[in-house]
Amino acid sequence: MKNDRFLRALRREPVDCTPVWIMRQAGRYLPEYRATRARAGSFLALAKTPELACEVTLQPLERFELDAAILFSDILTVPDAMGLGLYFVEGEGPKFERPVRSAADVARLAVPDIGAELGYVTDAVSLIRRELDGRVPLIGFSGSPWTLACYMVEGGSSDNFARIKAMMYDDPATLHRLLDVVTQAVIAYLAAQREAGAQALQIFDTWGGVLAPAMYREFSLRYLTRIAQELPRGEGGNRTPLILFGKGNAPHLEALADSGAEGIGVDWSVTLEEARRRTGGRVALQGNLDPAVLFASPERIRSEAAAVLQSYGPGPGHVFNLGHGITPDVKPDHLKALVDAVHELSRTAP
Ligand code: CP3
Repeated sequence: MKNDRFLRALRREPVDCTPVWIMRQAGRYLPEYRATRARAGSFLALAKTPELACEVTLQPLERFELDAAILFSDILTVPDAMGLGLYFVEGEGPKFERPVRSAADVARLAVPDIGAELGYVTDAVSLIRRELDGRVPLIGFSGSPWTLACYMVEGGSSDNFARIKAMMYDDPATLHRLLDVVTQAVIAYLAAQREAGAQALQIFDTWGGVLAPAMYREFSLRYLTRIAQELPRGEGGNRTPLILFGKGNAPHLEALADSGAEGIGVDWSVTLEEARRRTGGRVALQGNLDPAVLFASPERIRSEAAAVLQSYGPGPGHVFNLGHGITPDVKPDHLKALVDAVHELSRTAP
């Protein structure tokens, strides 16, 4: 491995400077991504063709000195493989042809055969590893059971989560059966990505923050913890690190630090100083610049990056990232200003 600062930071070992990668680093803000997507015909065709998924995974690494690559795919490949029929409507985001609405719908679900249904993902992972040739580590990922269940029950994006919350309050046993089968699928999916060559794994719990605290513990945290405990990841220095990213997870940092995961990804609603104090050095922290800072001038981006580094403070265990994904309207030069600032400002004397 030519550059292992990302993996070292997750192990809370000393680094020459703070590693940085960006959620959604391969995406629509890059003209070369838009060109490859146009060639593929659609986002799903792009994600389902390993050669093209590999190409867009590597694009941001050509422009920026990023310290990790992330597999180009989507969290909704898992429910798609479970037979829900994923499709995208321009301007409306993801949708399912067959959402899960009843106890009978849940009873019909099974853990997908990863090789048969998601082989395009593991093929992309192997290909990307080969093309990276040790340049930086490759991150694999999955949605969290709760976040995947949100899309499966709502049938797409939602602003109030009316259907899944009605199920949660009126028929919690059915929702737990759904979360159980999705958890088994996520474990099999992440294990397969690891087998194919993913060197770190991240779970996106995009919607955990919409839950009241007791509900978060019962319907999101419980399943995140189960994954952290049950996912086979190896032992000692070779253990594949797991990062739990959650939008709005700040109220639960103490519990997340006890889940068994190596890293916790946080949004910008909490300072890293507070997050570090509350997690007591038990985990590495990833984050947490407000993605909207990238709309400001390069000078302001640099000073805000300095503020995040300063908030984390000295010592190992920080992976710099945004507090959520980069948005499609960011200028690529602004991301370059951020990545370079993180490395320059955090470099320690040799
Ligand atoms: O970080 C990366 O570079 C890896 C790629 C990645 C994508 N989606 C590519 C993508 C990752 C990690 C995701 C995760 C994902 N997908 C999440 C969790 C994200 C988070 O930050 O919390 C969610 C909720 C989804 C579901 C999904 N897929 C949505 C809501 C959308 C956007 C739809 C829209 O029209 O805006 C997608 C599509 C998608 N996934 C795009 C990309 C680059 C845009 C597709 C396009 O090219 O049109």
